[in-house]
Amino acid sequence: MSASPTSKTFVSPKNRKKWGIPVTKRRLRLGSGLILFAFVVTHLANHALGLISLEAMEAGREYFLMLWRNPVGTALFVGSLMVHAAFALHAVYSRRRLRMSIGEALQLILGFAAPILLVSHVLGTRAAMQIYGTEDTYAYVLLALWVDNPMGGLKQSAATVIVWVHACIGLYYWLRLKPWFMRILPWLYGMALLIPVLGLLGFVFAGGAVGRLAAQDPGFRLDLAIDNNAPEAAQIAYLYQLESWIFMGMGAAIALTLLARALRLYLESREGVVRITYPEGRIVSVSPGMTILEASQLNEIPHAAVCGGRGRCSTCRVRVNGTIENLPEPDDSEQKVLRRVGAAPDVRLACQTRPTEDLSVTPLLPPNASPRDGFAKSAAMQGQEQEISILFADIRGFTSFSEQKLPYDVVFVLNRYFRSMGEAIEQAGGRVDKFIGDGIMALFGVDGNPRDGAISALKAAQGMAVKLDELNALLKDDLPAPLRIGIGIHAGAAIVGEMGYSHAISVTAIGDTVNTSSRLEAKTKDFGAQLIVSEHVAELGGLDSSALRHEEIEVRGRKEPMQIIVMDDAKDLLDLTDTKVSP
Ligand code: FES
Repeated sequence: MSASPTSKTFVSPKNRKKWGIPVTKRRLRLGSGLILFAFVVTHLANHALGLISLEAMEAGREYFLMLWRNPVGTALFVGSLMVHAAFALHAVYSRRRLRMSIGEALQLILGFAAPILLVSHVLGTRAAMQIYGTEDTYAYVLLALWVDNPMGGLKQSAATVIVWVHACIGLYYWLRLKPWFMRILPWLYGMALLIPVLGLLGFVFAGGAVGRLAAQDPGFRLDLAIDNNAPEAAQIAYLYQLESWIFMGMGAAIALTLLARALRLYLESREGVVRITYPEGRIVSVSPGMTILEASQLNEIPHAAVCGGRGRCSTCRVRVNGTIENLPEPDDSEQKVLRRVGAAPDVRLACQTRPTEDLSVTPLLPPNASPRDGFAKSAAMQGQEQEISILFADIRGFTSFSEQKLPYDVVFVLNRYFRSMGEAIEQAGGRVDKFIGDGIMALFGVDGNPRDGAISALKAAQGMAVKLDELNALLKDDLPAPLRIGIGIHAGAAIVGEMGYSHAISVTAIGDTVNTSSRLEAKTKDFGAQLIVSEHVAELGGLDSSALRHEEIEVRGRKEPMQIIVMDDAKDLLDLTDTKVSP
């Protein structure tokens, strides 16, 4: 829906607070989901014991009951079930549009299907136990579900798969934003398949065993009914009655939710509109209470939202141009995510921000942003000018070395070299910006202050010299001559931010400081030195350079001559080891 810029906009002040979502909402939803997941995993593990024997299954059930049928376990389970159901209804109520991704739709549909399929099982086991004292042993339940009512058994198996898939989708949405997710993904896939398959196989095996017992022993069924205090016909009829009441209750809850949603949308549409301006002048009008992300999606404006609007991934973040103080305050969890990415004060999560007045926004990530983009760690990601130190390093004479060696050897030596130098840079607190041929560019102070950046850069140069000696000793049989490097460091203002496209996006710096640092590295050849740092870096880092060699040079692109410090060996920066960066 687009609107003319002259549309009247109005939102009553009393509504400005009410759109805020309770801080604990996400934790509650996640916590309840995890408790239910734990219940399902232990239940399936118990089923899996049927692969050993019916007796093993019954013995495992004792532990299962110990865990879940005590007052605490019961309260946790029932409470989680209620909370989870309430969140499902709330999700339907609060959505402005019912269009969603396949994963989201599947999770929602399966979430509603699971209780429908499970009601009779719960009534026949837990409720029968509570009301009539029926002992729901595996033999008793398997006789009912495997021998007497195979369709019922099939329904329970389908319910198991449905609950499991629903849980796995939820876990996937949660875990895929973790930095270690990709590393453990193969294990998760394995567990996601193994647990239900073993559980269902245990059910089938033990079901077969109970079937054989019933066939071999005519008194088996009667003994089981007596031993387990099976409900009588009238009691079973009452359980069925209960089942239909529960179904009616569930239907009423869904119908009421949809009704409330329709009513809310109607009332909101009467409250006026909020106009959101996007880059390139596109203006959309939405109801107050709608998030910026919902506004984008409703109006088909491509907008990254890796976590589906759950406020976890940060990929939907937008810069609010001008009027951020008119927005409701971010809640604790939004603030936490914004802090995690070091967002600037004018940045908000589009999925959590519900504008109550007109505003203009700029989405900060491309619509195809990946979960990895959610871990960007610095305000610099947004693009800003800041004073940083920049280090360039290059291997001397590497071209002739590579001409004499096989490609495999060249790659081997280069990778060892990059690893050693990268470690030295990172140990000093810097970040490797890029490897260019045999060259390295590194940034220091992006997440800190200029002084810390300069100290880190000097320490990195020293560490690189030490690591180079170690590497040369290690590779002495593979190298015609020890590797020699030239390092140049300069500090100054640079534009720092995420640059690139698609998967080739990374934090980098551009500007005159970068060019000057690179030229200082090139100058090491002229001086036959290992390290050249600008005097500015030395002063910034508090380096006592009185005993070091100072020179003045012309640097291409700079009007003024430049004061530099030349060092034959960067290890001579020994006194720096006592210099600490700010905590
Ligand atoms: S969509 Fe993930 S934080 Fe907004």
